[in-house]
Amino acid sequence: MRDKGHWTRDKLQEQQQWQYLDVTLRKSDLNHDDIVYLLGLQGAEKTRLFEYSSGVKEKNVGNKVYFRGLIEFSNVCLKNCLYCGIRRGNVLVNRYNLHMDEILAAARFAFENNYGSLVLQSGELETGNFVRQVEKILREIHRISGGKLRITLSCGEQEKDTYRRWHDSGAHRYLLRIESSNPELYRKLHPQDGLHSYQRRLDCLYSLQNTGYQVGTGVMIGLPFQTLHDLAGDLLFMKQFDIDMVGMGPYLEHEHTPLYAFRDQLLPVEERLQLTLKMIAVLRMLLKDINIAATTALQAIDKLGREKAIQVGANVIMPNITPGRYRDDYLLYQNKPCTDENPEDCMSCLNARIALTNNEIAYGEWGDSEHFRKKGTRDKGRGTSQP
Ligand code: 5AD
Ligand code: SF4
Ligand code: FES
Repeated sequence: MRDKGHWTRDKLQEQQQWQYLDVTLRKSDLNHDDIVYLLGLQGAEKTRLFEYSSGVKEKNVGNKVYFRGLIEFSNVCLKNCLYCGIRRGNVLVNRYNLHMDEILAAARFAFENNYGSLVLQSGELETGNFVRQVEKILREIHRISGGKLRITLSCGEQEKDTYRRWHDSGAHRYLLRIESSNPELYRKLHPQDGLHSYQRRLDCLYSLQNTGYQVGTGVMIGLPFQTLHDLAGDLLFMKQFDIDMVGMGPYLEHEHTPLYAFRDQLLPVEERLQLTLKMIAVLRMLLKDINIAATTALQAIDKLGREKAIQVGANVIMPNITPGRYRDDYLLYQNKPCTDENPEDCMSCLNARIALTNNEIAYGEWGDSEHFRKKGTRDKGRGTSQP
């Protein structure tokens, strides 16, 4: 039986813990140790973090959710990332390239449904043909939408000149995940074949910034060998890089990839989900006015995963508008959601889901990153936040 002294000491300790949390949450400049501490929170303390980040979100970017219609226009990839289901080495994948008319039909769907923005994503190729194909897609989408759709590209590492050509052809945003900001972990996740270099990835991010793109990056969360220190480093990397947009989600295993061999070392999926939510919450506190995506991988773990992300700090969703029959062939990880659905299904599903979060879908708005807008000078003459 514990005496009264014990009871008082326990209470005091608990009070101090809450005080420590509240002081940390209110800090204007979180350091590495603060972030590791926040990422480790559990139970009621974690809930307090989420309430706090939710307030930071509402105060800085409001309760609007921006839609980006996602077109996965090709799954052909020259790279062999050890975690990815469509890596070059996976011979079981049916490779496809969407026809121009299929891409334009998807773009038209986004335009007619007032999405405001598109994301064009593919595997990575650096051939002249591919560069020209993307250029042509950009110009055609510009033509059919009268320049009213904002376009984000997610086509991997390219030469600076290619980034410039695509920017000139109408792409204003680019997503290139750093995957992990720890060079040693990066090396463990990629083959040493001369095609996968941390330094090149970094150089590409700098090229994109210098070319004038709104630049997005991101990481996978819950990877084998990854620690809370790595993840804290990732968040500080995004801050230091002064990034405009982030898409980060849980790592999900795929049986036809080399990293699958380490599946026994992974956190349970629910913990990966919670860790991702904590990453989003802390990122919202670090970079208050950037765009943060609630990624599809969250939805693969939990039907309400994206809604939870919206509640703690995310403000972007990327409804898949790839024609239904190709969706099964773009499996970066297994159990990817929405592969049996078509663009209309995803739209009505999301309309209902976002309404439940007390957020509002910002139809008809570009939803450029406020952070980028405030930086001001880079994208002169290309408009503000309305089509
Ligand atoms: N689990 C989660 N995300 C993955 N990606 C690739 N493979 C996986 C996986 N197995 C992510 C990478 C890449 C993005 C397009 O998809 O972060 O940058
Ligand atoms: Fe290719 Fe991207 Fe997959 Fe790497 S993550 S194998 S670059 S599609
Ligand atoms: Fe595709 Fe819900 S978003 S079915």
